Amino acid sequence: MIRLDKYLSQSSDYSRKEIKKAIRQKAIEVNGETATDPGMKISEQDDVVLYGIGVDFQGKRYFMMNKPEDVVSVTRDGRNTTALDLLEEPNKERLHVAGRLDKDATGLLLITDDGVWTHQVISPRKHCTKVYHVWTAESIDESMVEKFAQGIWLESENKRTLPAELQILSSHEARLSIQEGRYHQVKRMFAAQGNRVVALHREQIGEIRLDLELADGEYRSLTQKEIDSVW
Ligand code: URA
Repeated sequence: MIRLDKYLSQSSDYSRKEIKKAIRQKAIEVNGETATDPGMKISEQDDVVLYGIGVDFQGKRYFMMNKPEDVVSVTRDGRNTTALDLLEEPNKERLHVAGRLDKDATGLLLITDDGVWTHQVISPRKHCTKVYHVWTAESIDESMVEKFAQGIWLESENKRTLPAELQILSSHEARLSIQEGRYHQVKRMFAAQGNRVVALHREQIGEIRLDLELADGEYRSLTQKEIDSVW
């Protein structure tokens, strides 16, 4: 069950204030009856009409995008193209990115309007693993596997990262799994070893893998299984 004003503000372009006004104007019907209380409890199955037009329930929204280079993952940016600019969806201002990627990084970006879900994805205490494909300027030494497993000391924060799993793929290429999402974390972990990340691509967050069908800048809704996988 959900409040009528919440149902409508979530499912239409109308703000809660406009919905209150519509109620005063007797412009909202629930199951054929004029609604008088914005707080009345309704369910997704109820038939809701606003100014003569039926309004289907719009639940929370969840997307994955294959973020291209040079696109920023902040919600608004005067200069750069943002990930939200690439979405063709209504009410985009209600959406946010769950776990940012740097402007020069590519790959899996999650976008939603569900703040509780986002917390689950980004909170280090929830141990939601993020997997990155990394290309480096200098060769990757075998000894780094053990160092990453013990956590890397980040000087600027005076703190060690949580244990990370490094899988060396070739001399300048690796797959790194981390459980946090600190600012520039992967780049700083490699920099702390005297190496430099030249390209970074996120492949996976928790159980959610980037869909390889998605070309650069394309996106799709998450499946229910993907949504539920973060709990
Ligand atoms: N680590 C980084 O350094 N950059 C990102 O975009 C994500 C993780």
